[in-house]
Amino acid sequence: MMGLFKRIFSRTKKIQGEVLVTGGTGFIGSHTVVDLLESGFSVVIVDNLENSSEKVLDRIEEIVGEKAFEKLTFYEADIRDEEALTSIFDAHDIKNVIHFAGLKAVGESVEKPLEYYDNNIAGTCTLCKVMGNAGCKSIIFSSSSTVYGDPDTLPLTEESPKKPATNPYGWTKWMIEQILTDLYTADPEWDVVLLRYFNPIGAHVSGLIGEDPKGIPNNLVPYIAQTAVGKRDKVHVFGDDYATPDGTGIRDYIHVVDLAAGHVAALQWMQGHTGVEIFNLGTGSGSSVLEVIKAFQTASGQEIPYVIEERRAGDIAQNFADATKAEKILGWKAEKTLEDMVRDSWNWQSKNPEGLEG
Ligand code: NAD
Ligand code: UD1
Repeated sequence: MMGLFKRIFSRTKKIQGEVLVTGGTGFIGSHTVVDLLESGFSVVIVDNLENSSEKVLDRIEEIVGEKAFEKLTFYEADIRDEEALTSIFDAHDIKNVIHFAGLKAVGESVEKPLEYYDNNIAGTCTLCKVMGNAGCKSIIFSSSSTVYGDPDTLPLTEESPKKPATNPYGWTKWMIEQILTDLYTADPEWDVVLLRYFNPIGAHVSGLIGEDPKGIPNNLVPYIAQTAVGKRDKVHVFGDDYATPDGTGIRDYIHVVDLAAGHVAALQWMQGHTGVEIFNLGTGSGSSVLEVIKAFQTASGQEIPYVIEERRAGDIAQNFADATKAEKILGWKAEKTLEDMVRDSWNWQSKNPEGLEG
């Protein structure tokens, strides 16, 4: 995989001010690329396709149309490949980077810590080194509410304390936040935006792109969606004895299209800025596992059988964001409801029951 560097296509000439999106064919990346192209940006994607499909590119073209799609260049490359990244920066005028690329399965990270530390941390260090050499010092990083751990108080603000992570995946988010902060301390020309996502779900309203997990889904909504299309027998609800109204875990689910818009807002805001700024991207309210199952059932008209199981190790009872900082500073606010999220997840899953590679 390392060293693989293939320019699949490029219909663009050198354009001023391109945005590099690492992990741009993934779940959140692809929705963000759609928003960027529709907002008029020129975009360069770097993705090694480890957890995504090249077919996403055709789907993006279908959504944005041929003209906007001409502003997209895709490279199949690994962010740990310094040589490949350097030639990409040489070939383009990249002014900003949105950095999604990384591994994200919590359980797998416990089994394969070195892969996670290498991909996520070493990958980010290589990316930043190449960026610095190219004079591009503006980065938006995909962090996670996981850095808050088990919260003492809710809602979580950006000032809420970071807690020790409970798994290598969480540590990579924790450490990359620190690395990017240290980078700014060493060189105040850097502009770092750390976006802490709550629980992204949903899909583009067209049903053309969405979450396409390989193997058995770890996360709740993809698991429910696969149960609704008959790929799984029943949903396993991890615990109904939490101190929440119905006993099941509460999370702040956010529509991926809203989340994508948060990146575009951050990108626009950070032009001409330097420093390190953290934003929570959530809706500000939580839903329980049983509420999500019920909403999905209503949206899909499918029965979703479920069974209550033991709590999952490392889970917390609840978290949800105080997202007012993003609203005040970025002018961004999540707009879509839980009903919108499950409707769009169902639309995507029912149109693509085997994902894009099926
Ligand atoms: P995803 O797996 O769908 O997308 C990640 C993309 O990065 C994939 O297309 C994958 O092929 C690519 N990639 C992985 N390693 C790479 C490497 N070394 N070089 C080049 N490309 C590489 O995941 P996603 O849900 O879109 O998440 C995007 C980012 O947001 C990740 O950093 C993830 O940790 C973070 N995040 C996700 C969630 C969530 O619930 N989905 C929550 C918080 C934070
Ligand atoms: C998980 C990760 C988190 C990561 C995020 C995005 C853990 C402990 N946390 O968040 O670090 O940033 O994904 O990748 O894995 N649930 C079920 N049945 C299921 C799946 C989940 O009942 O089959 C419950 C969970 O107990 C939780 C809720 O649904 O209460 C949401 O779970 P999930 O979608 O996995 O997200 P998080 O655990 O919040």
